[in-house]
Amino acid sequence: MTSDRRQFLTGAVTAGAMAAATPAQAARKIAPKPVNPAFPKGFLWGAATAAYQVEGNNVASDIWLLERTTPTVYAEPSGDAANSFLLWERDLDLVKSLGLNSYRFSLEWARIEPEQGQFSIAMLDHYKAMIAGCHARGLTPVVTFNHFTTPRWFAALGGWHGNDAPALFARYCDRAARHLADGITYATTLNEPNLSGKLGELLPGDLLGADKAMVEAAAKALGVPIYQPGNPLYTPDGARTQRHLLEGHRLGRAAIKAVRGDLPVGVSLAMLDEQAAPDLPRGKVSLQAKMREHYYGEWLRLAKDSCDFLGIQNYERSVWDDKGKRPNPPGAVTNTMGAEVYPPSLAGVARYAHAQTGLPIMVTEHGVGSEHDEIRANLIPAALTELKRAMDDGVPVLGYLHWSLVDNFEWVFGYRIRFGLCELNRQTFERKPKPSAAVLGRIARANALT
Ligand code: BGC
Repeated sequence: MTSDRRQFLTGAVTAGAMAAATPAQAARKIAPKPVNPAFPKGFLWGAATAAYQVEGNNVASDIWLLERTTPTVYAEPSGDAANSFLLWERDLDLVKSLGLNSYRFSLEWARIEPEQGQFSIAMLDHYKAMIAGCHARGLTPVVTFNHFTTPRWFAALGGWHGNDAPALFARYCDRAARHLADGITYATTLNEPNLSGKLGELLPGDLLGADKAMVEAAAKALGVPIYQPGNPLYTPDGARTQRHLLEGHRLGRAAIKAVRGDLPVGVSLAMLDEQAAPDLPRGKVSLQAKMREHYYGEWLRLAKDSCDFLGIQNYERSVWDDKGKRPNPPGAVTNTMGAEVYPPSLAGVARYAHAQTGLPIMVTEHGVGSEHDEIRANLIPAALTELKRAMDDGVPVLGYLHWSLVDNFEWVFGYRIRFGLCELNRQTFERKPKPSAAVLGRIARANALT
């Protein structure tokens, strides 16, 4: 173990010390202003999940088919997941018992509209019961209308590549909102649409090539020209998919607002903390600004004009010099995928996202994929200290929803990568809180950094 890693695991490195000092601060060795530990009254403390990753048996969803296509990029099928479709009350009790006051979950479009134009009242009632269950326990429901997976019929029409995609999504939003909007406290339209079609750039190995082979095989098996799942790695036309997602958000939001104008609606963006390498020689320009525009530009501009709040989802930072992304600093603490765990990245993103949009920010996801829970237990207070510092500096933050409540189906990686505050027994479906859950719970109960 490197000494940096040991220090991090024992919490000996304070978040303040890890925060990037401005060059002027570094030169003058100015200690950062002390953070006011108290969070504002009504701050949301929660855990987040997504339907496909926890419910299990979402047989009408796009990737259920891809998990069993030959070839497939999925390490294993999602199967029963955490069986949350049946055990949702246990999940809500768990959220409550951890000391949290809100729960972010998503509606599975394929359950609500299993065939095009055929809506299931029984499934809408299921989500209505979950929303009521949140209120019964004093939990604020934050509901994502679509977290990546779409119905299989939608993917067979080309998914977000298809011209009708935005209108089809808006019709689903309208139907779901008419049944559910009354009880929802915060809604988001889409989850991380900004990375759709760009994920191949960020994931390891030749996942993109393998993904292309998989979706082409699925299209062939179904006899359709394009089978594109909701969150594609490969897409024949990334710009077109992005255009349709932007329009889908616009129309979906309008549909929800038409049902309940006073319901706050946002979108959740995947945001790395893009930083400029601090040591570039004179005349060299970091790629920071270019990458920010590439990953977030259009979505931040749209959010500014269309959202009541912006959901940010952060897991990492990227340090850019003039040629590309810098490797991890020596001795960095890393997650299961080998990326650096850098607690101040969340605050960096909150500051940037607010500066660009002027919107209140909600942390709709933050966490770490690691089987070493002590990394999570140290990350949470360190990241929250920097987030609070940003709030003290004037960034309005509505809440912090940790990803995730329980270990779950981590997409192509299957169940190997663990993000949960609770451990999942995949045979008994028992959820067992990890020590990090107590760390978050203590802060949440105190509504203060403790
Ligand atoms: C997604 C989640 C995912 C998490 C961890 C986010 O990109 O919204 O579905 O499990 O990150 O990778």
